[in-house]
Amino acid sequence: MSTEPAIDVLGDIEPQGRDDQYEPTSPWWLSGTPLESEHHRLMRRRTVHIPWTETTAEKLTDAERARLAATWMRRSEAEYLAVSTFSVLAIDLVAARAPADVLSLCLRAGIDEIRHAEMCIRMAQIYSGKQNLPPPGMSSLPDDPTRPKLHQALANTMLVSCVSETYATTVLSATRDLTTDPTAQAVLTSIYSDEVMHARLGWSYMRHAIEIGGQGVIDAAAAMLPRALRGVANVVEAERPVGEVTTAVRTHGLMTPAEERVIFSTCVREVLVPGFEALGIPVGSALDDYGDTWAHAA
Ligand SMILES: [Fe+2]
Ligand SMILES: [Fe+2]
Repeated sequence: MSTEPAIDVLGDIEPQGRDDQYEPTSPWWLSGTPLESEHHRLMRRRTVHIPWTETTAEKLTDAERARLAATWMRRSEAEYLAVSTFSVLAIDLVAARAPADVLSLCLRAGIDEIRHAEMCIRMAQIYSGKQNLPPPGMSSLPDDPTRPKLHQALANTMLVSCVSETYATTVLSATRDLTTDPTAQAVLTSIYSDEVMHARLGWSYMRHAIEIGGQGVIDAAAAMLPRALRGVANVVEAERPVGEVTTAVRTHGLMTPAEERVIFSTCVREVLVPGFEALGIPVGSALDDYGDTWAHAA
């Protein structure tokens, strides 16, 4: 058993990268070369201790385990793609000569996403018994070489960080609240603590970009907003793995699609729209598009 207190898990974050309890998360996804030790050093940074052996997966039925394995595998695929998302965003930010702190945090976000992918892969293994990896691939971001680099960087920051990562924090927080399995709870806590910073990166850069770019930046942001919201809504609306979301499954970090719709709608209304309006960015029909009708359509 861990001697860690059950509450205040975020207090376990060690900013200097010391973590005596660290162990490779998904060793079957490593190169088998001397790079591994440096990788572990990177992965330990800001880590939340994950009590891998305290999983309560053995109490679940086969169907429940299959449902959770499929969901955590799908999450690993999304986290894996997010590595490339931040890599591409970093290129856009470099092209726009973004401030050094924005660049370093963007590149670090990519490293965080590798850690998230590793954790989700291991969670899938806990439920399936199989050491699977996400398929190869990368995400693509909108690219318009004819427009100013600042507008390109700003628009993709809005998509990736302000909208996607802000939604991620709200859905992770809600999911974590109903998760009682200690391993799933710690994994969600760890991911959540990083996603908060990934969202903050975007809102901060947005403010900076408006300060230096004025109305052109506001127009570029307003033009991207519907596309960014639709992108996340597509994920929320997507088909889920087969299998019932039982009461027990919910305690391992899973909500129903209907619940996620309500969370996205609430996030648009209470977080995203007020945030963009505070920056002077017109939000168009966002409140109507993702209001009660959309939230309860499933
Ligand atoms: Fe992530
Ligand atoms: Fe993220």
